[in-house]
Amino acid sequence: MPRFYLTTPIYYVNGDPHLGHAYTSIAADVIARFHRLDGDEVFFLTGTDEHGQKVEKAAQAAGLAPQAFADQVSARFRRMSEVLNISHDDFIRTTEPRHLRACAELWQRAQANGAIYLGHYEGWYSVRDEAFYGTDEIETLADGTRLARESRAPVEWVREPSWFFRLSAYQDKLLAFHEANPDFLAPAARRNELLSFLKSGLTDLSISRASFRWGVPVPNDPDHVMYVWFDALTNYLTATGWPDPAAPRAGFWPADLHLVGKEIARFHALYWPAFLMAADLPLPRRVFSHGWWTVEGEKMSKSAGNGLDPTELVETYGRDALRYFILREVPFGNDGDFRHEAIVTRMDRELANDLGNLAQRTLSLVARNLDGTRPAPGPRTDDDAALLAQAASLPAELRGAIDRQALAEALEQIWKLIRAANAYIDHQAPWALKKANPTRMEDVLRVLLDLLHTIGVTLTPFMPDAMAKLLDQLAVPETARSLAALASPLAGGVILPAPAAIFPRFAARLDARAPAC
Ligand code: MSP
Repeated sequence: MPRFYLTTPIYYVNGDPHLGHAYTSIAADVIARFHRLDGDEVFFLTGTDEHGQKVEKAAQAAGLAPQAFADQVSARFRRMSEVLNISHDDFIRTTEPRHLRACAELWQRAQANGAIYLGHYEGWYSVRDEAFYGTDEIETLADGTRLARESRAPVEWVREPSWFFRLSAYQDKLLAFHEANPDFLAPAARRNELLSFLKSGLTDLSISRASFRWGVPVPNDPDHVMYVWFDALTNYLTATGWPDPAAPRAGFWPADLHLVGKEIARFHALYWPAFLMAADLPLPRRVFSHGWWTVEGEKMSKSAGNGLDPTELVETYGRDALRYFILREVPFGNDGDFRHEAIVTRMDRELANDLGNLAQRTLSLVARNLDGTRPAPGPRTDDDAALLAQAASLPAELRGAIDRQALAEALEQIWKLIRAANAYIDHQAPWALKKANPTRMEDVLRVLLDLLHTIGVTLTPFMPDAMAKLLDQLAVPETARSLAALASPLAGGVILPAPAAIFPRFAARLDARAPAC
């Protein structure tokens, strides 16, 4: 079985989950589910990033010890996964003993290879970004406040002894690696940004802090804890059981895909490969960096209090509609704006009308006119054959799109088939054939049932609950719910359960939730 290992970033536990975190998790979940549907052995990892000054400060503000605070917030991220139907295979926490071991081992290997040395750090640091900045990356405001120009996060001057990673020594190797692997970092715009940063010259990276304690201890130097990004990136190795070569998941390294937001592409596409090179380990195959969401035109932020809570979004719209909307609304890689009106419009037009009505019309005709029985395949007209050929080519097209993480494009390919099926049902008008040509009516309904089978299976990674309902109503056996199974016709003569609506309109959803008076 081909193997596929993909990861989300591990989420900082300094605050509660919001739409931004939900986005990365949902996208990764769709890709994981698609690979499973395609017969791959998948390892899908998510988790929480629990060390560092930012978490330590948030714990202090909450009046809790860092570990107790991390326990609380990490549990909320776990719940976010449940609420969104995320099918991860492991949830890693960076405070687990398995992770402390892996960090120490990676450090020692890099050190043994001469990539780590003791020095003195003096420069700008942003706790919010957990990142060091050069003087050329800083802006001073009129009131004297200093900010990191790009992220607008406050910075402070830090002066302390520090262990350094010899990043400058990896510049040529990193450049050669990126040039030999043009698909390593996508989308292309992000790759170009990274290449120009890389070409502008790399300075050594401070990878330990001596001014606070909440981190992974540096081996043989009790005064230092590791820089949170050295610790955090290592989680992807930890989860494979590294450094134990006999661990059950050892064969999953190197990862096939790290999915990340655009602001952390540099950490994944520069620092992480350099750390791995320093320890003589294979590099991941790809990093895809997605865009950012605003909400009704505004940047999401704690101070604005507009960080949308994934649980509330699921209560309002339903989890499948939310999953569908955020992957459909903007090409994956671009920024997006979350608007209530836009999600409601898509729910009504695309889910309830295009897809829901297609299923409803077909299934109720089968129920009424064929005693609910799925007919055997009949002779095909040119129209039937063309449409079924479009359905048959869909899995290969989707593989192509998913391999490029083109998630909105994959949905558009499926929607092309849905629109073609709607045009077909209108044109063939099977309801009018009952008296005039009942055999042809059977054949038309059979074509529609086959199309719905393909649509139900290929949409399963995006909307697992609703598509399970659809496939149940189509009486598709479990064994026929995979991409490979779409090539074999379903048996005729099978009785389908009574049809029921799959996607109520948004207004109807709200009515159903309102308490009965
Ligand atoms: N802990 C680091 C990642 C370490 S990975 C080894 C981190 N955590 S985070 O909680 O701040 O962010 C995690 C993810 O959420 C990132 O991929 C980030 O892009 C995403 N989002 C946070 N806010 C977002 C939006 N407003 N919109 C879309 N995604 C954004 O970074």
